[in-house]
Amino acid sequence: MNKIKVGIIYGGRSSEHEVSLRSAASVFKRIDRTRFDPKTIYIDKKGVWHWVDIPESFITSSDATLPMASEAPEIVLLSQGVLSFQDQKNFGRKEKVDVMMPIVHGKNCEDGTLQGLFESMEIAYTGSGVLGSAIGMDKEVSKRLAEKAGLPVVPYRVAHVWDSTDHIESMLIDAEKNLGWPMFIKAAREGSSVGVYKVKTREEFKTKLKEAFQYDNKVLIERGIDAREIEFAVLQNSDRSKAPLVSIAAEIIPTHEFYTYDAKYNDENGAIVKVPAEISPALNEKLTQLVQNIFIALELEGYSRIDLFLDRQSTTENPVFYLNEVNTLPGFTSISMFPKLWEMSGIAYTDLLTKLIDLALLRNRG
Ligand SMILES: Nc1ncnc2c1ncn2[C@@H]1O[C@H](COP(=O)(O)OP(=O)(O)O)[C@@H](O)[C@H]1O
Ligand SMILES: [Mg+2]
Repeated sequence: MNKIKVGIIYGGRSSEHEVSLRSAASVFKRIDRTRFDPKTIYIDKKGVWHWVDIPESFITSSDATLPMASEAPEIVLLSQGVLSFQDQKNFGRKEKVDVMMPIVHGKNCEDGTLQGLFESMEIAYTGSGVLGSAIGMDKEVSKRLAEKAGLPVVPYRVAHVWDSTDHIESMLIDAEKNLGWPMFIKAAREGSSVGVYKVKTREEFKTKLKEAFQYDNKVLIERGIDAREIEFAVLQNSDRSKAPLVSIAAEIIPTHEFYTYDAKYNDENGAIVKVPAEISPALNEKLTQLVQNIFIALELEGYSRIDLFLDRQSTTENPVFYLNEVNTLPGFTSISMFPKLWEMSGIAYTDLLTKLIDLALLRNRG
């Protein structure tokens, strides 16, 4: 049997470049080599693509990251997965992959742009399509669509960088009345808690709103929820007439004031993670249904991590919960939440990768 050539795309013109190096190293090491032949493709910080030959010895090494290989030969993607070498030394050389596996995160990677390139070049790829990726990246559009489907979202308002001072002033008065303090201000299309602020006063509100506008021209103002943060991993059903598959739940308990960038990446004790989350079977059932409905309402495909808030102020009899956000290309290191949740739900890391690739090939056939 000819092995399926899988292009593992890593790096990316994104603030989450470094996280990708780790995720992709795990994927490269643990992909099923009896069925797949992995090829590593590095997108450098300028957006240039490189063909990277990773030696077999990497698989058993203790290296936790794939290299930032800006010196490796430059390539461009042509139609049907053909990769054309651009440097003098490899003049005329071409390689071909059968399916792309984007193991990158954030802007220019997770927001539908890369997926659009794959579509226009007629190459299969894992994860959500153009629309689902773009929706998933935009916390405001996600909420709007979820609301429209009757699903609970954290109460919020929106501000644009072009809004007048008067408009912002009246929005603040409305937010004070209807959302209350503290509020969360967040850039609409970022990740890793970049551009996310907790504010408790009018002064802080104004300063942090300006800061958030450095990251995006659209910013959400949300009610600060005294929240338990509950996450689920979701997989598309290969029979799409059936509901998506949902993992057991996890709870993240940040040890910082909230789950900040530092708590995520710079402090190994930044959060306590409980898998499975301690929630009642009845609540678990409700949240599982909610997560399935979110996956469908937001047009997601392949896989996704869906993060909910459970309001601590609500009662066990009448729990109040909301969608916080979805991640269409969640972290994929062997200790990342998405594969960990599946591992504990009975799908081992290697089998999970196989499922994602099979779903990608299935979509292309259908
Ligand atoms: N409305 C909110 N109420 C309470 N905490 C929040 C709220 N919004 C965000 N947070 C905190 O900020 C963190 C990051 O926000 P999130 O919307 O998940 O952005 P990111 O995409 O960067 O992860 C959350 O994990 C949570 O700890
Ligand atoms: Mg988050």
